[in-house]
Amino acid sequence: MIVMGIESSCDETACGIVNEKKEILGSVVWSQYDEHRRFGGVVPEIAARAHLEQIDILITEAMRQANVGFQDLSAIAVAAGPGLIGGVLVGAMTAKAIAWARQLPFIAVNHLSGHALMARMTEDIEFPYLLLLVSGGHCQILAVESPNVYVKLGGTVDDSAGEAFDKVAKMLDIGYPGGPAVDRLAAQGNPKRFVLPKPMKGRPGCDFSFSGLKTAVRMLIDKQAPLSQQDKADICAAFQATVICVIEDRLKHAIKLFKQRYPQGKHLVVSGGVAANTALRAALKQLAAQQGMIFSAPPVSLCTDNGVMIAWAGLERFRLGLVDTLDFKARPRWPLDSLSETN
Ligand code: KG4
Ligand code: ZN
Repeated sequence: MIVMGIESSCDETACGIVNEKKEILGSVVWSQYDEHRRFGGVVPEIAARAHLEQIDILITEAMRQANVGFQDLSAIAVAAGPGLIGGVLVGAMTAKAIAWARQLPFIAVNHLSGHALMARMTEDIEFPYLLLLVSGGHCQILAVESPNVYVKLGGTVDDSAGEAFDKVAKMLDIGYPGGPAVDRLAAQGNPKRFVLPKPMKGRPGCDFSFSGLKTAVRMLIDKQAPLSQQDKADICAAFQATVICVIEDRLKHAIKLFKQRYPQGKHLVVSGGVAANTALRAALKQLAAQQGMIFSAPPVSLCTDNGVMIAWAGLERFRLGLVDTLDFKARPRWPLDSLSETN
């Protein structure tokens, strides 16, 4: 079984080809950082045009790496939402055209399920597992029961963690994309010099909030200006430590709930772009050990958007017979916990 996955829902155009032996046969990711850098964020119209220019080239290159032709593919999967709809449409139309022309099964993958299932390809993880999904557009805690069933335990009431990382980097003018820039600079900073509020910490439940933290960083920057490089590093370190502290607090509640509901569940999985964060990975590994759970995270290159995760999620769906028709509509919004209802 060989499945191709196409990703174009945000600012990465990507194509991955995997097989059921969990081997990556081909993978190409093209990040549009240069297109968006001068705007300090992703511009949807520019993203859609850039996807259109690159997608054929990337598919050809992934197939060259994998040494496969269309006749060797068992199915074609695409991230059909959620995301910036112009980009999602580029991927969806391309995948549909290939599926139609080559008579291949077409699989509409939820982009978030791509992140959610990635760790099952790189490690042996059984259902059910507890998932922290932290990306640019999303911040949620879910119990994953199957490739098609997700139970939401909590989520952000305002911004995502990734958005907060990106905004803080923009405010500090330390580079684009923001998350990796904050991660790098925080490593040189003192997290204790500045104290920031910890939104939601200690509250019941598993929800997050990051907009107040963003505002607090804005006020701190105004107060300290002009900023030295060390000031910037200390602010990054304080911000990152606060985000991690809040995530740990929310996860502790989620682990309790998860254990009550799924006594057989063993794994805590973290996924999505922010799961590339070095300090977060270290903190969650420790938390999982304290709570008697096994910590798993995909390798950093498979945490941020890529085609392999879409191909793998497509393969998991294909194995269950979950194939879609070519009239499947691309979706700007598509909550993970509605997956089993809509299919
Ligand atoms: O999953 P992803 O590639 O795209 C979405 O689906 O949103 O996540 C992108 C997000 C961005 O906000 C980016 O700043 C953040 O992941 N990110 C990081 C790191 N690497 C990427 N955040 C913190 N630390 C990192 N090392
Ligand atoms: Zn993503």
